[in-house]
Amino acid sequence: MSDYDPIDFDVLVVGAGGAGLRAAIEASARGLKTGLVCKSLLGKAHTVMAEGGVAAALANVDKDDNWQVHFRDTMLGGKMMNNWRMAMLHAKEAPEAVYELERWGAAFDRTEDGRILQRAFGGHKYKRLAHVGDRTGLEMIRTLQDRGVHQGIEVFMECTITHLLTDDGRVTGAFGYWRESGRFIVFRARAVVLATGGIGKMYRITSNSWEYTADGHALAYQAGAELIDMEFVQFHPTGMVWPPGVRGILVTEAVRGEGGLLRNSLNERFMQKYDPERLELSTRDLVSKSIYREVQEGRGTPHGGVWLDVSHLPADQVIKKLPSMYHQFKDLADVDITRSPMEVGPTMHYVMGGIQVDAETGASTVPGLLAAGECAGGMHGANRLGGNSLSDLLVFGKRAGAGAAEFARANSGKAGFDPEQVRKAERELLSVFEAAQGESPYDVQMTLQELMQNNVGIIREGSRLQLAIDELKKLRARAAHLCVEGSRLYNPGWHLGWDLRNMLTIAEIVARCALQREESRGAHTRLDFENTDKTKWEKLTSFARKRDGQLEIGTSSKGEMPPELKSLFA
Ligand code: FUM
Repeated sequence: MSDYDPIDFDVLVVGAGGAGLRAAIEASARGLKTGLVCKSLLGKAHTVMAEGGVAAALANVDKDDNWQVHFRDTMLGGKMMNNWRMAMLHAKEAPEAVYELERWGAAFDRTEDGRILQRAFGGHKYKRLAHVGDRTGLEMIRTLQDRGVHQGIEVFMECTITHLLTDDGRVTGAFGYWRESGRFIVFRARAVVLATGGIGKMYRITSNSWEYTADGHALAYQAGAELIDMEFVQFHPTGMVWPPGVRGILVTEAVRGEGGLLRNSLNERFMQKYDPERLELSTRDLVSKSIYREVQEGRGTPHGGVWLDVSHLPADQVIKKLPSMYHQFKDLADVDITRSPMEVGPTMHYVMGGIQVDAETGASTVPGLLAAGECAGGMHGANRLGGNSLSDLLVFGKRAGAGAAEFARANSGKAGFDPEQVRKAERELLSVFEAAQGESPYDVQMTLQELMQNNVGIIREGSRLQLAIDELKKLRARAAHLCVEGSRLYNPGWHLGWDLRNMLTIAEIVARCALQREESRGAHTRLDFENTDKTKWEKLTSFARKRDGQLEIGTSSKGEMPPELKSLFA
């Protein structure tokens, strides 16, 4: 075991997007020895795909904005499925989180009188999104990265965590491998924060890149933590659809926030039919469903999308406010968006469901394990408003960092370390090299992506969800007989083989939770249950957990909102 002398931290954060960085900064600022592990290079995170802005009721552009309106918009956007306490803390604390980021060096766009500029986004009553052109997430990551690195956080790049280590029911460390060398690495920590992001790579069309394979969701589930709301998967209405190699790449909602118009092949501004009041700035669930319907009914573009047009706006304004989109379309699709419309369609972007956490501390249901950001559930309910993910990761990243620091201090004895758990993890990871022949992980992933896209996507139906569940069983059997060529030295096939376990586990949970919820709500639309059920399902959260080695799916009652918050909806 000498190869695996554990590296000791008080707090270990897994995932280095915005939530992970913010959590690590907080734990480290509180004097705790903090490690930060990222699967990819530091700075390459899905946070940068939240391009159009961070939502916070600063009231710089619309003076009537305040936390109560932001809270209400968030709950209505989430179709009242949100954990109200998280939504309240988020709305109250987002403004200070943005100002803190500004103090740390984030260079937001400005109003004429020098305050942080805010723009319109779907479902937000007021212009609320503080932004940096259409590169807000990138600027946030850059700022947090600077802050974290200068604060002395130890960073482990290109390192994938595959197992959580436990001692007497408490999470006390993590096991993983270096992507480049394939060598294993063991961490021991008093508290572990998961901030691993989403699950996008189980879908064929997604804005997510290769890292997003449900790792945190699966790690937490395997450790016995509870997942909630997993049926709610967000399709962002506008991803690129052409050429094929760039399908799914995000086209920021800021395009519509700046005045972009959606049209079908008949040149109709079709959102007039679906949401005549909010039009293009309706909530994402509704815009995605509307686009889906236009295409299904034969009013789509040549490549199965719709048109998104900013050519009526002054060209210099488009280039100034949407520089990334301008270059993205010019470089990738040979389209000048100041002159021609963009061809766009829904792309799987975000999962609202995730690890159940305590709103105040980010603690999961397993001692020593906390979570923040996309892999945590509850905050966004059945549908997330654009820009709320960036404020979420600042508010709850900080809270999880503080929660982890507190837990680590309260449990300051040396965390236990069981070499047998490490040996078992090692055996599991290496077993694929033993097969002389078997399935290619790439083939299995492609089948998974088709299955999820076609049956557990924007529009669902009981029979198709059941089919997905049955097929997933077969896929798991195939995935048990993977064959990987080459050695442990930089071997993406081997890495994907492991990621597949996570995706298959969580895909089944998404499909089963979707089958269980017999209504349509937010991002979950059932053809066989078209109505939103205000009597039964509005009061229920779905959960998934592992008990006695088996997946258990069920529902639990949502907590009652206090009267002072309820009155905001009167
Ligand atoms: O469209 C966007 O810029 C994405 C924002 C978000 O997901 O919050």
